[in-house]
Amino acid sequence: MKLLITGGAGFIGSNFIHYWLKKYPEDKIVNLDLLTYAGNLENLKDIQDNQNYKFTKADIADKVEVNKIISEEKPDAIVHFAAESHVDRSILGPEEFVRTNILGTFNLLESARQNGNIRFHHISTDEVFGSLGPNDALFNETTPYDPRSPYSASKASSDHLVRAYFHTFNLPITISNCSNNFGPYQFPEKLIPLFITNLIEDKKIPLYGDGMNVRDWLYVEDHSSAIDLILKKGKIGETYCIGGNSEKTNKEITYKILEIMSRGEEMIEFVEDRKGHDRRYAIDSTKIQRELGWIPKTNFEDGIKKTIEWYKENEDWWKKIKSGEYQNYYKNNYKNR
Ligand code: NAD
Ligand code: DAU
Repeated sequence: MKLLITGGAGFIGSNFIHYWLKKYPEDKIVNLDLLTYAGNLENLKDIQDNQNYKFTKADIADKVEVNKIISEEKPDAIVHFAAESHVDRSILGPEEFVRTNILGTFNLLESARQNGNIRFHHISTDEVFGSLGPNDALFNETTPYDPRSPYSASKASSDHLVRAYFHTFNLPITISNCSNNFGPYQFPEKLIPLFITNLIEDKKIPLYGDGMNVRDWLYVEDHSSAIDLILKKGKIGETYCIGGNSEKTNKEITYKILEIMSRGEEMIEFVEDRKGHDRRYAIDSTKIQRELGWIPKTNFEDGIKKTIEWYKENEDWWKKIKSGEYQNYYKNNYKNR
């Protein structure tokens, strides 16, 4: 099988490529990524010379470029991770989110359609469903869309386009809406890696608002295994919700990290809240568990310990990000290949 992965140099995409090549070493992977600030080829350093892996630098918002790659590579399936993914950045500058998340997804769908209706799996988020109150039922596949940030609105638009291509053109699609991921290679702008790396550097950790917003945390490897099952056994046209069954307030996460890293609450700095900050997300994963037999393997407690350990052991990786040096990796290692 040959997979075209978009956004494979980012957090979840690179974890997925590692997962896939370990489990299916005979398969071929083409990683199409623009290497925005969030793309880091150092995430894939250990497999960059693998004969079954190829990296192609391209912008999904460029339809000519996208179509050239897809028509030449002729993948059996496209797994679409590429996106602008950080909510705070979407508040500061929404335009890139519309361009990449909506136009980019549209270009990929068009190209998949024009090149023989290629199997298409779209990676989406639980944020498209909006914000839950404390006693509301969990999100599931039938929850109405109610996005509230430019990020989630752009992801919701892309989900609608993907479904439209199924109904209108019979494009063989599936969609997954996943909750908050954590684990190795997460860019240190997101809550968990930011707090861990700040504490290693003896810096304060900025908690938004009252710290009582709730997220449902999933260890990233369990997201990969869910996508694997959807690609192999998922029903065409269907959506699958993926979650960790692990709701935590940001305060709980903060205190857990402080405890494991033996630091005190004086490291917390309460800062101004995020604009339009969604209060609670939580996913009901019954469908993927029942229909595809998905079972997440890593609970939050083990996952957070492994994650803290990983950031402690890979200071070189995140320090290069914080200094900006990681952006030279492509130039130094790929440009003349
Ligand atoms: P990330 O920001 O770490 O990585 C995004 C990747 O996409 C980067 O490698 C970047 O270079 C690439 N990219 C961005 N714009 C591009 C463009 N125009 N053309 C080609 N490549 C481009 O994101 P992530 O956290 O790994 O998220 C991956 C996907 O999973 C996204 O679609 C996101 O919406 C979704 N998702 C993320 C989470 C989470 O907790 N991180 C949860 C649910 C769903
Ligand atoms: O729910 C899935 C989504 O999870 C994905 O679709 C997004 O791509 C991903 O970025 C993530 O979005 P969140 O906004 O939930 O993640 P973030 O790590 O930015 O924030 C998690 C919570 O922590 C949120 O309530 C805001 C809060 N926070 C975040 C940061 C960066 C803080 O309190 N302080 C911070 O410095």
